[in-house]
Amino acid sequence: MALHLPDPRNLIYIIREGIQPPEGEPGRWMPAFEGNLTDDQLTALVIWLRRQGTDAPPWADVARTVRETGNAP
Ligand code: HEM
Repeated sequence: MALHLPDPRNLIYIIREGIQPPEGEPGRWMPAFEGNLTDDQLTALVIWLRRQGTDAPPWADVARTVRETGNAP
């Protein structure tokens, strides 16, 4: 579960890229949100999901992780 990991990278990746089943296999699918969210919106969403979905402590410096993992120059 991405929300419970010690690092937010997985969750950020899932939101950006979505989830596709392996080539040729049936499976559940989630749309990619890359391009639909600004870095600030993605940061706010990730912080909120962590707070709502777990009792774990907040991730440190989500904004920086979003920035560093993004494609923007
Ligand atoms: C901003 C909106 C959304 C967020 C933040 C989000 C987040 C996530 C995350 C974190 C997971 C993986 C859970 C894990 O750790 O295992 C997930 C899985 C999934 N999402 Fe989303 N999701 C969003 C919107 C959607 C939408 C719109 C759909 C469908 C139309 C969708 C369909 C799915 C499905 C089917 C899975 C399970 C894939 C699988 O493992 O089989 N999601 N979502």
